[in-house]
Amino acid sequence: MKTVIKGVTVGYTDQGRGTPLVFIHAFPLSKAMWQPQVDALEDFYRVITIDLRGHGESDTVLWNDTLDNYAADVIDLLDDLGISQAIFIGLSMGGYVLFSIYRNYANRVKAMVLADTRAQSDSEEGKAGRRSMAQMAFNEGASAIADLMLPKLLTPSTMKHHPKIVEQVRQMILHTPTAGIIVDLMAMAARPDSTDLLRTISCPTLVIVGEEDQAAPVAESQYLTNRIPNSTLVTIPAAGHLSNYEQPAAFNQALQTFLDNLES
Ligand code: MLT
Repeated sequence: MKTVIKGVTVGYTDQGRGTPLVFIHAFPLSKAMWQPQVDALEDFYRVITIDLRGHGESDTVLWNDTLDNYAADVIDLLDDLGISQAIFIGLSMGGYVLFSIYRNYANRVKAMVLADTRAQSDSEEGKAGRRSMAQMAFNEGASAIADLMLPKLLTPSTMKHHPKIVEQVRQMILHTPTAGIIVDLMAMAARPDSTDLLRTISCPTLVIVGEEDQAAPVAESQYLTNRIPNSTLVTIPAAGHLSNYEQPAAFNQALQTFLDNLES
């Protein structure tokens, strides 16, 4: 489905009935990465996935874009759909967007799941890395970014033994416009630090991390649960950064247990 938010076309899915679950994807992917969770949960919940600007079916906005604008799109979509509060699930860049949602619209958040993400902003070295990756995207296109990102998203074992998963993730990256990749990198480099926000998060929070995540290692998730008052940490064995896609059964189990506890 598509809708137009402040002149920007935004792709999304909205399936099922019940408590709304809103899924926010990672860099440089799309709502397609949440298919294993949609399949598992749509019979029991209202499951919403969104393509952030510059991804999937959504328009790319070139000029001075920020993760706060991505967050505002998510909230505007929920307004369109008549949803006042939801449980949000964000992975990596989706987690950064979720911090922006909590910072600006905390009353919309019933609970949240922060997967494979971190609170800190980029170091100077990290920002320089974003700039060179953006240059690479401009010069060589999304396939060069796919070659660079796949080993960061997936474990060595998945890279070697699960060519179907590797190909599906590659296709998601190849479907991301180069301009969308560049805008993400600039927006992530400019994002604020969320460390001080953590102690103010009062909603139930689940933190999930792939045991082999190199991009946002387990220590980053421990940092989150040490500071977010009402939080728990689940580590997913044999998963890297894209833990929801690499080990969907374990990820869904952690999610389901969290959702069950919210209702009990
Ligand atoms: C992601 O998966 O969204 C990225 O690893 C986030 C980042 O580059 O900081």
